[in-house]
Amino acid sequence: MSETLASTFTIQVDGQTVTVQAGQSIMEACDAAGIYIPRLCDCEGLVPQGSCRVCCVDINGRIQAACTQPAAPGQVIGNETPTLNAHRRTLVEMLFHEGNHLCPICEASGRCELQAMAYRLGITQASPYPYLQPVRPVDASHPDIALDNNRCILCGRCIRASRDIDQKHVFDYVGRGIHKRIGVSAARLAETDASLEDEAIARGTCPVGCILRKREGFDTPVGQRLFDRRPIDLDNAVQHHIPTQAVPAHIESDPP
Ligand code: FES
Repeated sequence: MSETLASTFTIQVDGQTVTVQAGQSIMEACDAAGIYIPRLCDCEGLVPQGSCRVCCVDINGRIQAACTQPAAPGQVIGNETPTLNAHRRTLVEMLFHEGNHLCPICEASGRCELQAMAYRLGITQASPYPYLQPVRPVDASHPDIALDNNRCILCGRCIRASRDIDQKHVFDYVGRGIHKRIGVSAARLAETDASLEDEAIARGTCPVGCILRKREGFDTPVGQRLFDRRPIDLDNAVQHHIPTQAVPAHIESDPP
């Protein structure tokens, strides 16, 4: 087999033939083919983490995360199926119940990927799960940045951006189980070297309203915000976050 033939192959996604470059994940191959796979923890420019499971697809009968699963010749993949979207809806509902996501008073409303995903999946009313209503720390000590753990979905995008692109490692997970949250590399955010220029602080890295840039809230009128006019899809999920730097080549993907 020639090198050209070996470097590409095809897979089937919802009945559509997709050409894959060897080494691509299923998510990358589908992005390149214009097929949107719903996602929350994955973000263009960051190494995939595989934690939210919203991107799970059916690969030859097995449910696996598209962002971390390599594409392989002959895969027959289901993406937009009623069963998978029901699973995604449940995952997103549980995120709403696990944190304090008060969309009408949140600065991220209208550009929040959790909110947009809920609308995309048809979540229009409360589900049967109890609201946990946690009381978590809010760190507003930094002059330009605030961290509200009550809105965090633990996607880890800030952690990977700060670690791999900013090379600062300002953020990391602390605690375990239901007490797991985002912590910072000092006693307070003000004592870290986080700045508005960081990739971790850029709009679009945090998919919700956990990391906030001060004095920028509610700056876009209702009706003109990112997801006001269209549902979250391939274009605005991938392109609204424009990394300023590429991930260094030595950084490997986190294990799923
Ligand atoms: Fe793949 Fe979160 S986007 S697991």
